[in-house]
Amino acid sequence: MSEIKKICCIGAGYVGGPTMAMIAAKCPGIDVSVVDINEARIAAWNSDTLPIYEPGLDELVIGARGKNLFFSTDVDAAIVDADIIFVSVGTPTKTYGMGAGKAADLCYIEGAARMIAKVAKGPKIIVEKSTIPVRTAEAIKTILEANSEEGTFQVLSNPEFLAEGTAIDDMSDPDRILIGGDPSDEGQAAVAALASVYGTWIPDDRIIRTNLWSSELSKLVANAFLAQRISSINSISALCEKTEADVDEVANAIGMDSRIGSKFLKASVGFGGSCFQKDLLNLVYLSGHFGLPEVANYWQAVIDMNEWQKERFSAKVVQTLFNTVRGKKIGIWGFAFKKDTNDTRESAAIYVCRDLLMEGANIAIYDPKVGAEQVYADLEYLGMERAKLEKQITFCDSCEEAASEAHGVAVLTEWGEFKTVDFEKIYEGMFKPAFLFDGRNIIDAELVREVGFDFYSIGKG
Ligand code: NAD
Ligand code: UDX
Repeated sequence: MSEIKKICCIGAGYVGGPTMAMIAAKCPGIDVSVVDINEARIAAWNSDTLPIYEPGLDELVIGARGKNLFFSTDVDAAIVDADIIFVSVGTPTKTYGMGAGKAADLCYIEGAARMIAKVAKGPKIIVEKSTIPVRTAEAIKTILEANSEEGTFQVLSNPEFLAEGTAIDDMSDPDRILIGGDPSDEGQAAVAALASVYGTWIPDDRIIRTNLWSSELSKLVANAFLAQRISSINSISALCEKTEADVDEVANAIGMDSRIGSKFLKASVGFGGSCFQKDLLNLVYLSGHFGLPEVANYWQAVIDMNEWQKERFSAKVVQTLFNTVRGKKIGIWGFAFKKDTNDTRESAAIYVCRDLLMEGANIAIYDPKVGAEQVYADLEYLGMERAKLEKQITFCDSCEEAASEAHGVAVLTEWGEFKTVDFEKIYEGMFKPAFLFDGRNIIDAELVREVGFDFYSIGKG
């Protein structure tokens, strides 16, 4: 294929929007169209209030939008024009039928492939950006070839490794770019074409070329290993609480071993986000599907430990507050699954709030980026009734307001501002004894104990 002039991305979500904004910013000679069937989302990408919050994203989008970066609902037109088509649609856990609760739901992937097949003319490079089960490229290729009259296709795997909250840095200076392709000459030419786009700003020794299946599987495995580290340290946090060891000290001591490394060893109320649980479940499902129950059980334990950590935290709050929270106010600081994002998918806060509400607590939530409608939607998805939620939840504009006249406060997201609030003022406004439960280990224990708080932090003896 000759030089890449036009790129299209199907799916304007947390991955499609930011990745395409980065390519547009780094490659002014390439026109990048991001398309989605969700009109409201596209309208938001074209407005002053982008649909997702990500540090540095506004500047990136505003710098390129209308020049060589376009957001549109005209999926067909963008497909027809493009040399490379990224597929960045959701691949959530299936909720129905075979593999429900574990397998990835590939209906959006298939929908995108059929849209491409219907209108594409001439040679196209199709890039799997979504995280998908190993060997999905085969299915995409079959759908494309069976349904297209005028298109010819090379399917590549190019999984995305950005983390929310740090997406812009992750993309501008990635550890690696992974491209999997067919070993044929045509396949390798397609790999070279995609590599040339990334090569605009990423050194070639960081662009890994593999076969399709290694690339697809590596994405699931990378997320599984990262999640496994968190479950490992969280399992140790429970042991620390029994033995007066301090989990941060243990993490520091093991992390200085260069073979172990220091990252992803922060004990917490549990990992959240749209990826870890979904991709682990998918790995568990695939292992079972390929007749490897021991492998499936091994990875299932990482999920089970995460579930237990969330339940353990909720139980700790209830037990500490004299075994009853019925009618008590509990402040919730943070609802997003991590700091610097407005994303709440699989946030530990959803499950802790659900548990406390079921115990009859009244909760007062403050999150700098998450609004009431999102919280209601997340809890309603778990089967809770809106009318009851409206009675039991209040939404606040500050940490102080959420803590005012509360019996306890639970810190559920590691937002920077939670570390520097005026704890004396917070304490004054609360019922006594006043309890602070730090699910993120970000609060200075000495400081808040001096102020008078009864303080719990995960994994601290
Ligand atoms: P998302 O739900 O935010 O966005 C997906 C978008 O695709 C939606 O806006 C949806 O309307 C659109 N869509 C679905 N079918 C379509 C079609 N046929 N035509 C046009 N648009 C269509 O999802 P996301 O968080 O961006 O994740 C996308 C993929 O990337 C997933 O496979 C995910 O596992 C993977 N991933 C996500 C992250 C992350 O941090 N969120 C990181 C790495 C990889
Ligand atoms: C993850 C992967 O990091 C990224 O490479 C992939 O592309 C998508 O999935 P993301 O889910 O956006 O990214 O955020 P991440 O920083 O990995 O955090 C996931 C969850 O783990 C958060 O809830 C975070 O608070 C938690 N976490 C992370 C811990 O509890 N302890 C840690 O040490 C690190």
